Amino acid sequence: MSKKNNETKPEKSGGSADETSKLQKQDAEQRRGFLKTAVGCGIGMCAVGAPVCAAVRLVTAPVFAESAAGKFYTVAALDTLSDKPQKFFITDDKEDAWMKMPNQKIGSLFLRRSGDEVQAFHSLCPHAGCMIQCGVKKRPQTDSEELLFYCPCHAAHFGLDGKRLDGVSPRDMDTLETKVENGKVSVKFQNFTFGTAKK
Ligand code: FES
Repeated sequence: MSKKNNETKPEKSGGSADETSKLQKQDAEQRRGFLKTAVGCGIGMCAVGAPVCAAVRLVTAPVFAESAAGKFYTVAALDTLSDKPQKFFITDDKEDAWMKMPNQKIGSLFLRRSGDEVQAFHSLCPHAGCMIQCGVKKRPQTDSEELLFYCPCHAAHFGLDGKRLDGVSPRDMDTLETKVENGKVSVKFQNFTFGTAKK
């Protein structure tokens, strides 16, 4: 009686051991090639994408920056102010697409106290953005020396209340919103467009 063979033999793959090894090598090489391409593409995309993102951020950052719309800064103690204008610098952290710079000067202003009222004026000239000064000057129109605001770039003059006296500035000095809390004066600092009648 013949013995029935129930054992399952391994299915033949149809190739020799050498062929199998060759195929495995090819497969490994293909995978290595794919990985190299994928990594290369990734690095390429980062190299191109990073500057593009940075540029977009650089362009859009001012739109979203808090200071673009104005932000309150505590500037001085009320009892240190008088009717003679004093200049103050505003400092804040600056950030662009590449770096953060803490505690930088971002602008300046003049504060003047008249009784209980505090006036704040931006120090940039509304004509073309030169730095306005405060000092004793002789105006050709009056031929007398007086304390006033003046712009050295194109000889514009402003009164201590920021009103235009003469010169090419299209508007008065730019006023800034103020508030006084616990004896401290805060100013909403913001920048305005130059060369227009309306700020
Ligand atoms: S920039 Fe001030 S007068 Fe022109």
